Amino acid sequence: MRRIAFWSPKGGVGKTTLALNFAAAAYYAGYKVLVCDLDPQQSASDVFSENQLPFSVVPNLPVVPPNVDFIISDYAPSVKNLPTEETIILPMRASILDLKAVSKAQRHVRDKRIIKCVNAVDTRRHEERIMAMKLYADGCQLIKDRSIYVKSLASGKTVFQQTSYGAREAKNELNRLLERVLKP
Ligand SMILES: Nc1ncnc2c1ncn2[C@@H]1O[C@H](COP(=O)(O)OP(=O)(O)OP(=O)(O)O)[C@@H](O)[C@H]1O
Ligand SMILES: [Mg+2]
Repeated sequence: MRRIAFWSPKGGVGKTTLALNFAAAAYYAGYKVLVCDLDPQQSASDVFSENQLPFSVVPNLPVVPPNVDFIISDYAPSVKNLPTEETIILPMRASILDLKAVSKAQRHVRDKRIIKCVNAVDTRRHEERIMAMKLYADGCQLIKDRSIYVKSLASGKTVFQQTSYGAREAKNELNRLLERVLKP
């Protein structure tokens, strides 16, 4: 069983969006998944309450290890409750302020495997595109700014449950994130 945390002390960088859509990528690839909503804001639980997700979201890490392939935890934007999972996906924006915040954040989780994920990249903006390309060259995963992420969660779904414009590209980038996690 793999335990994956979506964590960053920075708020609004896409932890919940990516945690739920990553869970869907794993689910539709044939894995059993469970999402733990460890954020008191309960955003992932709110999405789950729409009864559209194909996997469960629970409010705590289970005491008895469940029979799943992935436990995916969505953390609050804080350094108070640090992730215990062996792999941390650290979402960030393609901005200098986020770069600085991420390098400080990494000090809290030194012993973990960290996969940096530059999220909501707006490729129409020159500076952002250049920075995202540089971060990609440095080994970060990229997820573009797509309205399908916003629209699908608003209806209680992931992009994997959508066929509308942008869904295919969104699924591809999440599948690439899954492949990265699965790599030894
Ligand atoms: N790739 C993306 N493209 C477009 N919008 C996105 C993308 N990722 C996230 N968003 C939007 O950005 C906002 C913040 O996302 P989200 O709530 O997932 O961040 P978070 O890090 O979990 O926030 P918090 O720190 O408050 O828990 C939401 O409105 C979400 O729909
Ligand atoms: Mg969140």
